[in-house]
Amino acid sequence: MAVGILSVGSYIPERRMSNDELPKSLDTSDEWIRSHTGIGNRHIASDTETTSYMASEASKDALSRAGLDSDDIDSIIVATITPDYKDIPASANLVQRDLAITNAGSFDIKAACTGFVYGLELGRGLILGGTAARVLVIGSEKLSAIMNWNDRRTAVLFGDGAGAAVLGQTDEGRGIQDSILRTDGSGAEFLYMPSGGTATPVDYTKNHEEQGCLTMDGQKVYNFAVRVNTEIVSELMVRNDLSQEDVDFIVPHQANYRIIAAAAKRANIPMEKYYLNMEEFANTSSASIPLALAEMDKKGMLKRGMKILTVGFGGGLTYGGNYIIW
Ligand code: UT7
Repeated sequence: MAVGILSVGSYIPERRMSNDELPKSLDTSDEWIRSHTGIGNRHIASDTETTSYMASEASKDALSRAGLDSDDIDSIIVATITPDYKDIPASANLVQRDLAITNAGSFDIKAACTGFVYGLELGRGLILGGTAARVLVIGSEKLSAIMNWNDRRTAVLFGDGAGAAVLGQTDEGRGIQDSILRTDGSGAEFLYMPSGGTATPVDYTKNHEEQGCLTMDGQKVYNFAVRVNTEIVSELMVRNDLSQEDVDFIVPHQANYRIIAAAAKRANIPMEKYYLNMEEFANTSSASIPLALAEMDKKGMLKRGMKILTVGFGGGLTYGGNYIIW
């Protein structure tokens, strides 16, 4: 049986924050942010735009684009590091409630910027195993809520949004052909939330920033990201006997233009093959790949039979990719 993406959808918060707004409160500039990352804007969720709300809206978009109803879904997977509630319940459960998807199971996965890559493979497994016929795989993030807005090393990099895909049976010769899911836990503290878990419980005498917000060793993550980007793309091509000409698009996690350019150079792949939209949305972690796919689909760029590689990398340190025939 072949399992593939039947449709994709997205939700972007209306509030758009350009780089020019950031120097009002931070020692930074549009010139620094653009030249070091390729980011020009980000979208910031309001109080009512929670992770589950954005996930539900992106799912409604994906369902309507597939001509399906809530009741056509058997499983819901939300990839997020910014769930509505820290431990329980899963944000996927709130999507189940809000979309009134009866008889579906739901759970969250926490694989940071590789979350959607992991989600696609888990969803495929549920369908191949006979547990589900159709699965909603969603990447949704409200990163603005966990950042230290006084820390220029992280505050300028991230944004909010959600992307969703409906997975189901497709014609033979199409769909998700292969996935690589990896972790290098030795770098777990290179990108992490130091407090709020059982290692360092919430200290109610301290404010949000003092507790420790999203913390990153940018250089270490940068070097890891370039290395694994090259590794995953090359391995997916070798494993599936793909030449560079065979691949129509590579859809990478949208963290930094320079990471993608360096990886493309190492793998000797032209930059035109990579789809990039971090200029508009910044780094939205697990939402970035489905947001890019939804944008490409809405622009009419994705045609049946196209060969697409995704590649994710980020906190954990997780990394991986999927090979999809659209
Ligand atoms: O999605 C998860 C994966 N995350 C990533 O892939 C992020 C990986 N890392 C990166 O993309 C880059 O390392 C950064 C964009 C985070 C940083 O870029 P960089 O070229 O590695 O800069 P740097 O850390 O080497 O800093 C260079 C200088 C420093 O000043 P000094 O020490 O040379 O005086 C920083 O303090 O730039 C300074 N700096 C800034 N200046 C203006 C750092 N952030 C800023 C800023 N505005 N926002």
